[in-house]
Amino acid sequence: MTTLAAIDYAPGEVHVVAPRVYPQLIKYMGSKAKIINFVSDSIQSIYDGGVICDLFSGAASLSGALGASYPILTNDIQHYSSLIASVYLKPVREIDTEALIQDSVVNYKTAKSRIDFDIDYEGFTSLEEFNEIEVRNRTLIDQNFRHHYHLFVKNYSGTWWSGEQCLWIDAIKQAIDKRVKSGEYGQAEYALTMSTLLHAMAYSSQGTGHYAQYRDAKTESSMLDINIYRQKKLQDLFVRKLDQMIIWSKENVIDLNHSLTTLDYTDCLKKLNGGTVYADPPYAFVHYSRFYHAMETLCLYDYPDLQIKGGSIVKGRYREERHQSPFCIRTQVNGAFEDLFSGVKKAGANLALSYSDTAMISLETLLDISKKTLKSNYEVWVEDLDHQHMTMGRQNDRSRDVKELMLLARRK
Ligand SMILES: C[S@@+](CC[C@H](N)C(=O)[O-])C[C@H]1O[C@@H](n2cnc3c(N)ncnc32)[C@H](O)[C@@H]1O
Repeated sequence: MTTLAAIDYAPGEVHVVAPRVYPQLIKYMGSKAKIINFVSDSIQSIYDGGVICDLFSGAASLSGALGASYPILTNDIQHYSSLIASVYLKPVREIDTEALIQDSVVNYKTAKSRIDFDIDYEGFTSLEEFNEIEVRNRTLIDQNFRHHYHLFVKNYSGTWWSGEQCLWIDAIKQAIDKRVKSGEYGQAEYALTMSTLLHAMAYSSQGTGHYAQYRDAKTESSMLDINIYRQKKLQDLFVRKLDQMIIWSKENVIDLNHSLTTLDYTDCLKKLNGGTVYADPPYAFVHYSRFYHAMETLCLYDYPDLQIKGGSIVKGRYREERHQSPFCIRTQVNGAFEDLFSGVKKAGANLALSYSDTAMISLETLLDISKKTLKSNYEVWVEDLDHQHMTMGRQNDRSRDVKELMLLARRK
């Protein structure tokens, strides 16, 4: 099969392929999965050869959609993103699901036998009794564990997951790592099994789709709802999805010389030579490193120091060292976009930039920065979801309720 990297398009020539249908692994704030047709068509409308660089790839929707059609360079500062992208971009060898889970069971049983009090969510008859179990789970953070794979059971029992579910997270991670060490798993098998574990974590968590705050059982009804998640068998969610993902991967994944990086966007742009950049930076003041800290910690598995406030560990149990994105800091956001445009220009690339009307910067300012930075070397315009060419310049030009826009910049 020829890779499209080798194809040079004549100026103005547009080839549009329909996005591939792909399975989503996690719930992700700002994911473009729902508007992937718009994103994919916009990118392809300015593509004129080379790689498509997904500069802020997040849950990797773009790799999911276009990974079988174009060579992709996927990048995000968070490590979990490159693991998820790998699922869509890198073919896997055989994965023995049965052996992986059997090994995890042994790890789980050994670790559970080391906890000498009851952490199960059973037999409670009132809100008070339920909360006693929650507190008992949370006290595991004060316990000393002698075996290595205890990060989740210590740090997160009784938070987004029960102690039981945390034991399984540690146990599966241990079984995956063993296979990496023995050489049975290469990078692609590691990424696929880890991403599936991220999936099982997301769908057993009692939270609302991220890990910024877990819920407290304050009323009978919240207790009942939390308990639904406390009872979920994380290991079953894992196995079920793993089998599906292996089949999907075999049928759909093709390596068109894709590459994956975990860099700050400015460093990623320095490595780029031509091609088309898709930029979907954060658009609100909330840091992804806070919302998804537990996923990052699973990937790094580095027993991080937890953030302390007023002498105690903060409720959200965040990592002390977390990336602070300039796109989420009001005083830095304009400079961050300047760096983005100038990095794209230095790389000699085209740019498709997602913009949401909830962003921290106005579209007018963004266009001013783009014009100042890209100068006359680029043709710049904006499209909305209906692919309408918009007359830009003044914010109050538009009366329509526009949610998702794409700023397009094509080298002249
Ligand atoms: C809006 S999300 C991207 C969503 C993605 N397009 C999708 O469909 O899932 C923004 C991403 O930017 C990443 N990010 C924030 N600051 C960054 C930086 N300085 N360099 C690289 N990535 C960064 C975040 O980790 C987050 O995953």
